Amino acid sequence: MLMDLKNKKILLTGGSGFLGSFIHEILTKRGIPESNIIIPRSEIDDLRKPEICHKVVQNIDIVIHLAAKVGGIGFNMEHPGELFYENIVMGAHLMEEARLAKVQKFVAIGTICAYPKFTPVPFHEDDIWYGYPEETNAPYGLAKKMLLVQSQAYRKQYGFNSIHLLPVNLYGPRDNFSPESSHVIPALIKKCIDAINNKDAFITVWGDGSASREFLYVEDCAKAIVAATEAYDKDAPINLGAGMEITIKDLIHLIVKITGFTGEIRWDTSKPNGQPRRCLDVSRAENEFGFKAKTNFEEGLAKTIDWYKAHQH
Ligand SMILES: NC(=O)c1ccc[n+]([C@@H]2O[C@H](COP(=O)([O-])OP(=O)(O)OC[C@H]3O[C@@H](n4cnc5c(N)ncnc54)[C@H](OP(=O)(O)O)[C@@H]3O)[C@@H](O)[C@H]2O)c1
Repeated sequence: MLMDLKNKKILLTGGSGFLGSFIHEILTKRGIPESNIIIPRSEIDDLRKPEICHKVVQNIDIVIHLAAKVGGIGFNMEHPGELFYENIVMGAHLMEEARLAKVQKFVAIGTICAYPKFTPVPFHEDDIWYGYPEETNAPYGLAKKMLLVQSQAYRKQYGFNSIHLLPVNLYGPRDNFSPESSHVIPALIKKCIDAINNKDAFITVWGDGSASREFLYVEDCAKAIVAATEAYDKDAPINLGAGMEITIKDLIHLIVKITGFTGEIRWDTSKPNGQPRRCLDVSRAENEFGFKAKTNFEEGLAKTIDWYKAHQH
């Protein structure tokens, strides 16, 4: 049965962020009035505090919980404590308060970083518990994974309608391009564009380029989350991906081609590669709520690069 979102009051935590801004747009296009979409901002409503979680869920029908502390490998290595603590407390308090406030549905956004370091490829949801995650992102991945445990436990004990989605690495316009905390695609795009602007002869890229990744265009992910909110009501976690895999070496060649950077690529092998391979089995999302990613990777990259060029200053 589809849940009709039209007259629902929706708490969209993280709605001001990269992914959240696209979900906000989709909900608005569906005709949901702005007054029914509540987006708490951390400066005023800090979700690490239980009393704030208590306040924001009152009279809410649906919670889509995206608020999180996130970053690329470097950020994860420098801030493991914050990433663990902030993500786990925000999620744990918010879900508990949502249950107490009799929220009808809680949509928790997890992460691919919850998977074991050496998960058989393609990653199937049933393999999520068979090993420790890759060390650089384990505190973040495990904090988010506890929300899956909480979801399943609350469904079992209280009949609470909570679902857990596992998006793969996202990319697209409005991504975070800050060198301190960006993910791999924005980081590489910025390096190429900066090098072109500064007429640098080379760029330096972390690792040896052998690791592989899957990337999902942010708007596709936002559509999947809204579709799951409407149509999915089970305890099993669901991968959200594009069903593709590309090595970092091939990725940088593609970004170099689209940006027009003609200099040398130097690999800094003293820096980690991160998880060796990432590619999801995406059949469950298709079977359960008909989600299939639409955006062609090269086209999505070109849109992201165009966006960055227009917003870099
Ligand atoms: N980006 C990816 O590649 C990716 C991949 C898989 C899963 N995800 C998941 O998708 C979600 C969104 O990621 P994103 O990349 O869109 O992140 P983002 O752009 O960094 O946005 C994070 C959001 O969380 C909010 N937030 C952070 N701390 C908060 C606090 N203490 N209280 C209230 N709000 C807080 C921020 O609000 P303010 O602006 O008000 O601080 C912001 O809106 C996260 O749950 C992330 O784990 C992302």
